[in-house]
Amino acid sequence: MSQTITDALLEWYDLNQRVLPWRTDRTPYRTLVSEVMLQQTRVDTVIPYFESFMETFPTIEVLAAAEQDAVLAKWSGLGYYSRARNLHKAANQVVALGHFPNTLTEIRSLSGVGEYIAGAIASMAFHLDVAAVDGNLHRVLSRLFCDSGDRKSMWSLADTLLPKGTGRCGDFNQALMDLGSSHCAKSFKCSGCPLQSHCQAHQSNRVAESPVLPKKKKKRLRGLFARTAR
Ligand code: ADE
Repeated sequence: MSQTITDALLEWYDLNQRVLPWRTDRTPYRTLVSEVMLQQTRVDTVIPYFESFMETFPTIEVLAAAEQDAVLAKWSGLGYYSRARNLHKAANQVVALGHFPNTLTEIRSLSGVGEYIAGAIASMAFHLDVAAVDGNLHRVLSRLFCDSGDRKSMWSLADTLLPKGTGRCGDFNQALMDLGSSHCAKSFKCSGCPLQSHCQAHQSNRVAESPVLPKKKKKRLRGLFARTAR
C-alpha cells in the first residue's frame, strides 16, 4: 500500500524540520510564549524577541512576578500589545494554580489562549492527540483536500490525519507548519513536496486557486433590492 499522508509528512519533517529556538528545550512555558508571539507575526521576526524574552523571563514564575510595564517594554516593537498583557495574566494564572495545566480544556482557559494555541501547547508540550489549525494550516489542508471548507471542517480533517497514540501529534502539527511556510506557502512550490502525490489541488491543477474563499455577501445589493421593491 502507498504511504499515508501522515507517514509521508512525518518522514519529511524528520529530515527537513526547521531548527527553531522554541523547538529545542521544549517546555509548556516556552511553547506558550512562542505561540503567543507567532500569532500575527512571522517566524524570522519572532526569533530574536523570543530569545531576548527568555533571557529576561526565563521561567513562568519570573514572568508572573514582573511588572506589566517591564513585560510590555520587552514586547516593544512586536506589536499587538494585548498579547503581552494576556501572556502576563496567563503566567499569573499558572503560578496561582501551582502547575502548568495539562489538559486541553484547562490550557484553553488561560488568558489569551484560543483553540489554536491550546492545541499547539497540548500537542507539542504534552504530547496529547490534538490538532492545531491556524491560517497557514488551513491553506495546506484546503489544498490537500481541495476543500474550501469552513474552520470546523479543517479542524476535523486535521484530526483524521493525526498520528494518534504515537506521541507525535505535536511533530505532525509542526510538520504541517513547516510545509505551509515552504512548499505550500501562499506562493507554492509543488516540486519536491512530500504530499504531492496525495494533493487533490495539485492533481486537478487548482493549487493556485486554493483555498477558494467563500463568496462575500453583497450587502449593498440587498439594500438596493429592498429600496426598489418598495
Ligand atoms: N507558527 C506558529 N507556530 C509555529 C511553530 N511552533 N513552529 C513554526 N512555525 C509556527
